[in-house]
Amino acid sequence: MSMSPIPKTAPFAEEEIDLLNRVVGTASPVQRAWLAGFLAGLDASGAALVPAHPAAPARPAEPLTIVYASESGNSEKLAGDLAKAARKNGLKPTLIDMADLDLSALVAAKRLVVIAATWGEGEPPARATRAYNELMGEGAPRLDGIEFGVLALGDTAYAEFCAIGKKIDQRLAALGGKRAADRVDCDLDYAAPAARWIDDAVKALAPPNAGRVIEVDFGAKPAATPSTYIFDAEITEHIDLNSSRSDKETIHLALSFEGGAPAYEPGDSLDLYPENDPAYVDELLKIAGLAGDEKLRTEFIKSRDVATLSLKTAETYASSTGHQYVKALLEQGQAREWIAGRQLIDLIATFPIALDAEKLRALTRPLAPRAYSIASSRREVGDEAHLLISAVRYESHGRARRGVASNYVAERLKRGGHVRVKLKPNKHFALPAADKDVIMVGPGTGVAPFRAFVQERRATEAKGRSWLFFGDRTFTHDFLYQLDWQDALKDGSLTRMDVAFSRDTPEKVYVQHKLWERRADLIQWLEGGAYFYVCGDAKTMAKDVRAALTRAYADVKGLSPEAAEQAVVTLEREKRYLQDTY
Ligand SMILES: Cc1cc2nc3c(=O)[nH]c(=O)nc-3n(C[C@H](O)[C@H](O)[C@H](O)COP(=O)(O)OP(=O)(O)OC[C@H]3O[C@@H](n4cnc5c(N)ncnc54)[C@H](O)[C@@H]3O)c2cc1C
Ligand SMILES: Cc1cc2nc3c(=O)[nH]c(=O)nc-3n(C[C@H](O)[C@H](O)[C@H](O)COP(=O)(O)O)c2cc1C
Repeated sequence: MSMSPIPKTAPFAEEEIDLLNRVVGTASPVQRAWLAGFLAGLDASGAALVPAHPAAPARPAEPLTIVYASESGNSEKLAGDLAKAARKNGLKPTLIDMADLDLSALVAAKRLVVIAATWGEGEPPARATRAYNELMGEGAPRLDGIEFGVLALGDTAYAEFCAIGKKIDQRLAALGGKRAADRVDCDLDYAAPAARWIDDAVKALAPPNAGRVIEVDFGAKPAATPSTYIFDAEITEHIDLNSSRSDKETIHLALSFEGGAPAYEPGDSLDLYPENDPAYVDELLKIAGLAGDEKLRTEFIKSRDVATLSLKTAETYASSTGHQYVKALLEQGQAREWIAGRQLIDLIATFPIALDAEKLRALTRPLAPRAYSIASSRREVGDEAHLLISAVRYESHGRARRGVASNYVAERLKRGGHVRVKLKPNKHFALPAADKDVIMVGPGTGVAPFRAFVQERRATEAKGRSWLFFGDRTFTHDFLYQLDWQDALKDGSLTRMDVAFSRDTPEKVYVQHKLWERRADLIQWLEGGAYFYVCGDAKTMAKDVRAALTRAYADVKGLSPEAAEQAVVTLEREKRYLQDTY
């Protein structure tokens, strides 16, 4: 027998009370709890209420699957923006990190959007690798009739611009998907084109007459989150941690924030807004025949990327100047090779032609900030944040080159000066519960976040053990934060440390060799639930470390190479193998 929970005294007409009792009276406790939350949320959100006599009953929202492949969070953030826009357009979005993607979820999808970044040299973001390989592999399921759209994130400075977004887009079509929105490939200044694409894609994917469905976003956040705020920080320490006899320069930068530091957690980074080297800008303007244009000089120093040379730059140069040799390079498919290791200044010096300020500006893009891992914990340093920045210097094609941001920090920032930074949170590289063990592999500047981890564990008196693998060139000249590690070992916030100094012995020793040497203990820690963190160089170190760990599993546990690989994949799926590499 159904009860009648809505009393006759309720402020509704009699037939409405009957109607409500028919629904609420038979509802399960779960359904009633949902309804209570829904109605509370509807009021709290200020969402428009259903008209007293709707012309037609509200339809259930149509599902939309949104998959993001992200490393530093840009695609993930855009996926969230897309979900919001989708809800407003009568779609019911499900957000999936590609790290957690089960391909069978795609088969069931009717509509699919993928937002994918490219990393390494044309590779998927580290934690998306498994699902990406499955999608590209022979075992991928058919996706006949699924409507899809892909937004690709990348950087035109890389030869493999937006390679992963492009490949996913092709693959979805090859598996039978129907492209509802054309792919857009975004450069580092992706905000405006991505917002436009989201708008267009949602419209293309939304069911006809959409927008009538009331969707309440219970988790809605205020529009401007603190992560979009740019802080002006004072430099309170600027110290080269390498000795004067090292051929490297790695700056420990302590930043102080009047009015409170950004709310960072161990594992987060700061985006640092650099300025260009005035000497480089002067040379560029001279070569372009625009020396003396003070307005352009200031603009170039402060806000334009005047160093990057991409295929797009060469194409713009060829079309705006009509330069025959550059056209020929492009047409003969040699531009890509020519560009490698070169900068904008080489293009103009090698293929000179009359340029005005507008044409030169059109060859540049906005100057983007660079990310640096935070090397401190707020619980230990209060309203400060520490960074560890290695000056990038090299020679190519007969010219001495200097990385823009790292040399801005190393050469032009001084103690007492100021710099602009923005918080770049990374919840995928956070410390685990206090009682869990952590293994941290961080050669070179890769050690920065682990200084934050160790400080945090000391401040919170965490019970879990901590084991650090550090490496650099020489013990005497390149032992970054040596005293900090010694103190941490003494007070127990660091349980164990292994070091690899590659140039101290005739045979080069790297962190992966130390992992291999310590493999018995390493596997024992991992079997006991330890978390494994890798930070630093993505090109070789991160791959070598993963390979060393796989071999360690095979050797210690007597596994086949396939089973050992599976053991590492399991760590990744359990989110106990975490990377922040660059
Ligand atoms: C999440 C994250 C965290 C990071 N954390 C840190 C950190 O803690 N510390 C740190 O120092 N860096 C860190 N980085 C790297 C940092 O963001 C910058 O990429 C780095 O400082 C170089 O920036 P730059 O402006 O000095 O160089 P750019 O002007 O950007 O020049 C770098 C480019 O120069 C070219 N190049 C560099 N070396 C060579 C070479 N030998 N031969 C040919 N070409 C070369 C490459 O094209 C390279 O992309 C991090 C990056 C990310 C994404
Ligand atoms: C170390 C590193 C390697 C990168 N490699 C590429 C690349 O090969 N091709 C490309 O188009 N973009 C590349 N990018 C640019 C990223 O795709 C871009 O920053 C993107 O916005 C990151 O999105 P995410 O935050 O969702 O990971 C690279 C960026 C970094 C820091």
